[in-house]
Amino acid sequence: MRYPPEFIDKVQEAASLLDIISQYTQLKPSGAGFMGRCPFPDHQEKTASFSMSEAKQVYHCFGCKKSGNIFTFLRDYNGMNFPEALEYLADRHGIVIPVANDGKQDQYAQSQDVKKQVLKMNKIASDFFKETLKRSSLDSPIKQYISKRKLTPETIEEFHIGYSSSEWDRLSLHLQKNNFSMPLADEAKLVKARKEGQGYFDLFRDRLMFPIISPSGEVLAFGGRIHDQGEPKYLNSPETVVFSKSKVLYGLAQTAKYIRSEDCVIIVEGYMDLVSLYQAGLKNVAASMGTALTAEHAKLIKRMTNNVVVLFDGDEAGQMAAERSLSILLSQGLYPRGLVLVDAKDPDEYVNKFGLAAMNEKIQKSSDLFNVVLQSWMIDYRGEASQKVKLVDRLKPIFDSISDNRLKGLYAEDLMMRMNVTKDWLRSALQASQAGGNNANRQAPSEAQRGQNVQNLQSQNSTAIDTAQGENSTLHIGREVDPNDPFGPLTEKIKISDANQVELMLLQMGLKSRANFEWLLEYSETITKEEFNDNNEVPTHSQIFGFKQIISQINHLGVRKIFEIGEQVYRQGVNKFDKFFTLLIDKIDKPEMLFQNSNLGAAAASPHNQEFDVEKEQKYLFDLIKKIQQNFIKAQSKKMASDIKSDKQGFDVDKLKEFVELQKSRLSLKK
Ligand code: UTP
Ligand code: MN
Repeated sequence: MRYPPEFIDKVQEAASLLDIISQYTQLKPSGAGFMGRCPFPDHQEKTASFSMSEAKQVYHCFGCKKSGNIFTFLRDYNGMNFPEALEYLADRHGIVIPVANDGKQDQYAQSQDVKKQVLKMNKIASDFFKETLKRSSLDSPIKQYISKRKLTPETIEEFHIGYSSSEWDRLSLHLQKNNFSMPLADEAKLVKARKEGQGYFDLFRDRLMFPIISPSGEVLAFGGRIHDQGEPKYLNSPETVVFSKSKVLYGLAQTAKYIRSEDCVIIVEGYMDLVSLYQAGLKNVAASMGTALTAEHAKLIKRMTNNVVVLFDGDEAGQMAAERSLSILLSQGLYPRGLVLVDAKDPDEYVNKFGLAAMNEKIQKSSDLFNVVLQSWMIDYRGEASQKVKLVDRLKPIFDSISDNRLKGLYAEDLMMRMNVTKDWLRSALQASQAGGNNANRQAPSEAQRGQNVQNLQSQNSTAIDTAQGENSTLHIGREVDPNDPFGPLTEKIKISDANQVELMLLQMGLKSRANFEWLLEYSETITKEEFNDNNEVPTHSQIFGFKQIISQINHLGVRKIFEIGEQVYRQGVNKFDKFFTLLIDKIDKPEMLFQNSNLGAAAASPHNQEFDVEKEQKYLFDLIKKIQQNFIKAQSKKMASDIKSDKQGFDVDKLKEFVELQKSRLSLKK
């Protein structure tokens, strides 16, 4: 472990879940704890179903079923890993972070130390640039430039915009005055070494300075715009120990809370676009700083919202960036829409020219980015054979990247009509080009699995047959499960329509909430042993539940298989399980059957009587398991009785003993 346990204890003692969560939602005392509206952006609610206990330091949402402690909260809400959360909390409560002394940890501590120093220096530089701007006279070129760009004093303040003087060493001198070494300032990319040990000079000179600030308020880097003629227009900090352009979006320090509350992010390219939209009143924005989005950006977005509107410039570069973003956003399971601005060169110009209402209306009306891109690719489309083939080749990687099969199916339907081709042709064309693709693609397992998604188009019309026949249907146990498609290469839908009522009900109940599934998986065994036998008898082998046991007694192979895959997904990460239900809908023959008889869910979602309802759910699960076990034993005894009768294997004492045991279990189960 990286930190000593005493330090962790100290942090945990000082930390307050109430303090952290209250930053994001209003909590009111209720009973022994607090209640409020769920802070998680993927759960927008009007009523308060989020509860937390300061005494137990845990939270639970009765609506979306998210639960955990301060570390899971900081992870799920702010994307911090355990050490990051520890450091964050320690800082918040003034606890000194220990420095370890063995070699490896020394190195770690050192690198942490460099990071801290760089961040500290960046902050001082940012304050210095701000101050320099404030001190510039009203008729200075930089102030004139600011008024030309229509930036208000409030905006300048909010975004900590500053100015780097035109002299060569203003910042260097200021940093030295604050006891920072120049090699460290070089590491922070604030200064550059002159030739042959002749000192250092400032990297940013005579530019309008945009500090790039992290959601938690650290100054990571800078973008500096020239206010006169010259090159480059924007100078950005190169990569440093605390900054990587491909992982950071500009503006989140100011906009993340709006992105969460709107449950939507507008992505723009430029610093000025973001600042200008924000100033106009459109605040759920993030800027990619002129690059196409990366998978890291998409992951960052996904922690805040699933809904993205890409608002790139109308020029060729903007169009290219939008196209490249499409598959990146889709592969992270986001829902991208897109907007190409035609009457203005970029969002900044648009909002200044036409106003906020017009901008908002454009955004409201924006279409799926897939369609925006498709439209531009089909401008000259006349349906000629060669065009069809070329278009499909171009679309193939996009289709491969879509992680939501429902979306993929619908896009394919749409495409079929627009291209004027048959479903059969489209399907085989997408597959053919896949098969003819390069080997590197085909070797990657996730690519192979994604390819299978195409086949789901195929199964839409085919008659569902029970694919869960025997051992083979148990999919890649022990292999890495693609979190986006735990079902792997299923060519047919799993049939559940002929499952018996009890097993179906167990499926409904088990999948209804993470808590229920967890109970089946983790607790059903212990509860059974203690509570199952009212008469305190030691349970017989077949009476010990536990997940594996329960599953093995399920008669219906489809139901059993769903539980098995569910377990794999759950073991991969509890939060992945939440997506499982959504994915499942697409893979079974009668999805509506998962929703019947689930009126218990409504009761469980109510924040009142919480203890009672949780118990009620478990009691119900418990009764269902009992019933399934009865059925299983009944079937076993029947089979055994007929085996003994027909004397297939000769008279067997063990067999008879087993039979008697079974009968005993049957009797005890009936109690
Ligand atoms: P644009 O050229 O579209 O500039 O670059 P802009 O944002 O509209 O800026 P103004 O309105 O002319 O001031 C978009 C983004 O690309 C990056 C910057 O992040 C910029 O905001 N960029 C652009 C650079 O990093 N360097 C450059 O030289 C130009
Ligand atoms: Mn611009």
